[in-house]
Amino acid sequence: MPRKIKESQGVIARQQTVRNDFATCTVICDDSREVLKEFVGRVDLIVTSPPYADARHKHYDSIHPDKFVEWFMSFHEPFYNALKPEGSLVINIKDKVVDGVRHRYVWKTIEALSERGWYAIDDYLWHKPNPMPGRWPTRLRDGWEYCFHLSKSKRPYFNADAVRKPIGDWVETRLAKLGKNDLSRHNSANQSGFGRDLSKWTNKKTVLPSNVLSIALVGKNKGHPAVFPVELPAFFIKLLSPVGGLIVDPFGGSGTTGVASLLLGRESLLIDNNPKYFDEAVKRLRQEGKVNGKKHAMQQSLLLD
Ligand SMILES: C[S@@+](CC[C@H](N)C(=O)[O-])C[C@H]1O[C@@H](n2cnc3c(N)ncnc32)[C@H](O)[C@@H]1O
Repeated sequence: MPRKIKESQGVIARQQTVRNDFATCTVICDDSREVLKEFVGRVDLIVTSPPYADARHKHYDSIHPDKFVEWFMSFHEPFYNALKPEGSLVINIKDKVVDGVRHRYVWKTIEALSERGWYAIDDYLWHKPNPMPGRWPTRLRDGWEYCFHLSKSKRPYFNADAVRKPIGDWVETRLAKLGKNDLSRHNSANQSGFGRDLSKWTNKKTVLPSNVLSIALVGKNKGHPAVFPVELPAFFIKLLSPVGGLIVDPFGGSGTTGVASLLLGRESLLIDNNPKYFDEAVKRLRQEGKVNGKKHAMQQSLLLD
């Protein structure tokens, strides 16, 4: 469906579709609030990282931290309406430090979304094992960001088995040394009410991960100042959408969510209102999303389902 070229707020809307043997990714250069009006009730998962308040004003339009909630709420209806009833919204974001103090616009945004009917299902933490170097008078290096999982229903689509991970060598070592307390469930010595039964782990090859995701920052420049790693959207795509489902990134940037979707066999739509990032995303998707016939190593590491 070639999109009509139109002019909105001085930006020429453009559209390109990149395909591999498993899926297609459509990139649109326009305001996502406008584009999503054409996708009512069709989207399985919105996974995105919005512009940080004020932080990147050299690169794209920024929003003052005090205005962030109001600005983000202008996306509430387009996002909510685009999702299927069992669909999910994942927002990767971090509070900005203003005058030495963490501004709480992120918490306020999540509160405001909850007041408008979104269910806050869980808060994931993206742990960065390689945080940016630096030194500040009152803070240490910033080693994590939020990923908020919000949904339209209390029971959104959720496939935990799709994100199982190898159990790891430590289990072999631990199981070899099982004591008598490990062979049946028993309460902890401090009466906390928690118990464990490690014998249940025998012969297990995989385990469910926790809600802390340890993923290294992207090293290479992808023609965009705020690229998240492919593994981050890939985790949520596997967990929160069926194969063949439709994934949307309404702040598409360099196209990371599209790369993950193409590699995981999901249809996807990326929207960015900056023509420069539109071009970068199309270029990158052609390079990194092309998987013809044989699955390459990256795809195999992402594809568990
Ligand atoms: C933090 S970046 C996303 C980076 C992306 N996750 C990646 O890995 O490259 C946010 C993007 O949102 C885009 N943007 C801001 N307002 C927008 C709007 N109303 N509609 C579409 N895109 C918008 C900006 O141009 C910017 O590229």
